[in-house]
Amino acid sequence: MISRICKFLVRCCVLLVRKVLPEERYIRLKCNMGRFVWGVMGELGPPSGVKVGLIKDLSSRFGIKTLVETGTCRGDAIRAVLKDFNQIYSIELDESLYKGACQRFAKFPYVHIAWGDSGELLPVLVGKITDRTIFWLDAHYSGGVTAGKGKGCPVVRELRAMRKARRTDHLILIDDAGSFAGETGYPHIDELCTLITAINPSYKVEVKDNIVRAFVSDDAGVPVK
Ligand SMILES: C[S@@+](CC[C@H](N)C(=O)[O-])C[C@H]1O[C@@H](n2cnc3c(N)ncnc32)[C@H](O)[C@@H]1O
Repeated sequence: MISRICKFLVRCCVLLVRKVLPEERYIRLKCNMGRFVWGVMGELGPPSGVKVGLIKDLSSRFGIKTLVETGTCRGDAIRAVLKDFNQIYSIELDESLYKGACQRFAKFPYVHIAWGDSGELLPVLVGKITDRTIFWLDAHYSGGVTAGKGKGCPVVRELRAMRKARRTDHLILIDDAGSFAGETGYPHIDELCTLITAINPSYKVEVKDNIVRAFVSDDAGVPVK
């Protein structure tokens, strides 16, 4: 009962802060709070701030201005990195989340949201992109209103699609590394490594903060946050 009341109060505070603060300051605060909580309760997965922090860091470090995301959800990651990229592509399977994201980013002509299965749409998209790109592969069922329940994770099809890419030096990030144990529709991490090196044998794959990171060998060894 007490924990329910606490959760309710925390939710009210979050809603209030979200209403009062400009969106950008709210996102910054949320990222910093997430990092703090993660630091204190290390056993939890990294908060969204760590993930978007990594995307921002790699974008500035390697001068990469194109982002492809699979699994848009409400578009929170896109919102946090809007200023870092010139082109953002994101694919969402759920129709209402897709429509919501289209509305949210209607004022940003360089944000392109597509509706459909990333395993099917990614082969077409990668065939069009000529600039070096960060791929943030994050499509999977994640409870609530999200799509893909009981369908496993499309990451194997996504990585196969990347063999059709016009270049083979993209940066590949895959969220939820801990889920890749070869069970319940999720491939084993070893299978992911095999698929990544089939795109380009120079890829070096590492896992940190529950994120799989694949860099071509020239970039490997660059310390990542
Ligand atoms: C963890 S959420 C994405 C969060 C978002 N990337 C962010 O960082 O803010 C995963 C999303 O993937 C979507 N999804 C599930 N299967 C999918 C598929 N095959 N193709 C595209 N999206 C999918 C779900 O509906 C859900 O919105």
